[in-house]
Amino acid sequence: MGQTITEKILDEHLVEGELTPGEEIGIEIDQVLTQDTTGTMVWLQFEALDLDEVQTELAAQYCDHQTYQFDFKNTDDHRFLRSAAGTFGAYFSRPGNGICHQVHKENFAAPGKTLLGSDSHTPTPGGLGQFAIGAGGLDIAVAMGGGPYYVEMPEVVNVELTGELPEWATAKDVALHLLGELTVKGGVGKVLEYTGEGAESLTIPERTTITNLGTELGATSSIFPTDGKTKEWLALQDREDEFVDLAPDEDAEYADTIEVDLSSLEPLIACPSMPDNVVPVSEVAGTDVEQVIIGSCTNGAYEDILPGAKMLEGREVDRKTEMIVAPGSKQASEMLSREGWTAELMAAGVNFSEATCGACIGIGHVPASDSVSLRTFNRNFEGRSGIEDDSVYLCSPEVATAAAIAGEIVDPRDLADDLGDLEAPGFEMGSNYGPGMGRDDPDIIGPDEAVDDDLIKGPNIGDVPLKDELASDIEGEALLKMEDNITTDHIIPATADILKFRSNIEKLSEFTLSRVDDTFAQRALDADGGFLVAGENYGQGSSREHAALCPMFLGVEGVLAQSFARIHKANLFNFGLVPLTIDEETYERIEQGDDVQIVDDVGDGVRSGQEEFTIRVNDDWEATARLDASERERDILAAGGKLSWTKAQHDSG
Ligand code: F3S
Repeated sequence: MGQTITEKILDEHLVEGELTPGEEIGIEIDQVLTQDTTGTMVWLQFEALDLDEVQTELAAQYCDHQTYQFDFKNTDDHRFLRSAAGTFGAYFSRPGNGICHQVHKENFAAPGKTLLGSDSHTPTPGGLGQFAIGAGGLDIAVAMGGGPYYVEMPEVVNVELTGELPEWATAKDVALHLLGELTVKGGVGKVLEYTGEGAESLTIPERTTITNLGTELGATSSIFPTDGKTKEWLALQDREDEFVDLAPDEDAEYADTIEVDLSSLEPLIACPSMPDNVVPVSEVAGTDVEQVIIGSCTNGAYEDILPGAKMLEGREVDRKTEMIVAPGSKQASEMLSREGWTAELMAAGVNFSEATCGACIGIGHVPASDSVSLRTFNRNFEGRSGIEDDSVYLCSPEVATAAAIAGEIVDPRDLADDLGDLEAPGFEMGSNYGPGMGRDDPDIIGPDEAVDDDLIKGPNIGDVPLKDELASDIEGEALLKMEDNITTDHIIPATADILKFRSNIEKLSEFTLSRVDDTFAQRALDADGGFLVAGENYGQGSSREHAALCPMFLGVEGVLAQSFARIHKANLFNFGLVPLTIDEETYERIEQGDDVQIVDDVGDGVRSGQEEFTIRVNDDWEATARLDASERERDILAAGGKLSWTKAQHDSG
């Protein structure tokens, strides 16, 4: 039987298991990436595992999430990351050089290679045929040490794109259309493989916008075939020799096929506060807009910013609206400059941010209270912009720019009719890439140019906490009952005042779930054990392992949820928290403050492969909770987490 692109790449990298959907497989990792909010833990864990050199073909450390240095803590973290990259043999991308997914795409992403990254949008370079997965930091540390990465073999779903995008519809609208149709859970357990003439019609920056947003669908990864456009794009980056041909076999079998006729798409917008809350722009037209931001890892390439620049030529941003361009990389900023667009944009009233995640996680450019912000980003979870009760809409650069011109949400087609001389900018590839860009840029320090050969730990760098082996009896309070779609931003907010403690778990844990209940952290510490209770899709969002590490530090023993997001569930195993699935009736019945006891011997049950556990609530009623875990995940859980488990494996082997 023929193979899909996903099966071809995984087959080549398979070290354990079979490519049967739902079965756990181990794959060899060629490249890893990590960023500054997850990277400090990655390197501390790498050190704790007594590893001394990166074993993958390539590892890259980016400084992108928190580049503004309010006090010494971020500066300390960045210096530590530079020293770790130098000591252990990774590339180091300096703060200001750009967002990991954009910079990695430009410099290192290669078709046919596997990439594991401690950031949930790691699948971005799937747009140029790389098989890329987001994972928790500890998985990255182990992979960098040469260990395989274990993941449930996903179903491979074909997204067949036909037709061509009409004027004013964009790649962002392809992704928003899928989010509206499939919801934020629609891709769980799946790889989305794009094919068809519509896929061929899209450029690499357009494809990577779509693969970036695959994360919002919950997909394990997203990937496109390679073709002449891939080759041309790699040539622009002076990496043409890294091109390989990738296409599914003609008789490849997919678990499902979703058809999208690109010619039927129109400008779409995701309303507050979930990326799948998608409607046609015309439905919310007339809404006043105070802030517009173009950029991020989703639409931060030069080619993403160019349409807005063209639309603003000879025009101005509305006086009551502020417009910011936040390029995804220094390369994008430099291209805008080389082509003369920076001055044009400034003349139109646009301000520039440095190339950083920044506003995407509420670090800078926080919207005014009770105001609407339109962003070309990928997430609009409530509060993520840095202010509670925010009103963030997600859209294409064209829709964002139209709003900046009009001062309100407007379908760009209507704005063009009104203005009479506004033409659809289309999508144009830049060509003036070249000398001074790429790996030779002084902002990328290669392993052979390292400036440090020892770790530099300032006072903000703490230790990695460890957990004891899994106990036999687990009993405790239902410390917090939460609804569906609780995100990692709810569990550990990524705002500047909190994230600066990312390397200091004791301090960071004080903020655990503070956005849901600000008494939680202290109550959990006082209770010395207990459970979290949640509805569907618990832990969606980022790969932030602090969302498991901090509850573990506070003494939480397990999570009872109707379902879990993939990366977060892996992080719960990695830090020794028992993830148990409960049905809707149990979820409805259990109350915050109830006493929950796992009746069975948990340690024995986990080790022996037991799938169903009885929970007794308030010594009054009982229900069944399921543990869906591979043998390896059970061993990790029983050992008290992956760090202890991996150490034990190294010691014995
Ligand atoms: Fe950064 Fe936001 Fe992307 S935090 S990696 S720009 S999703």
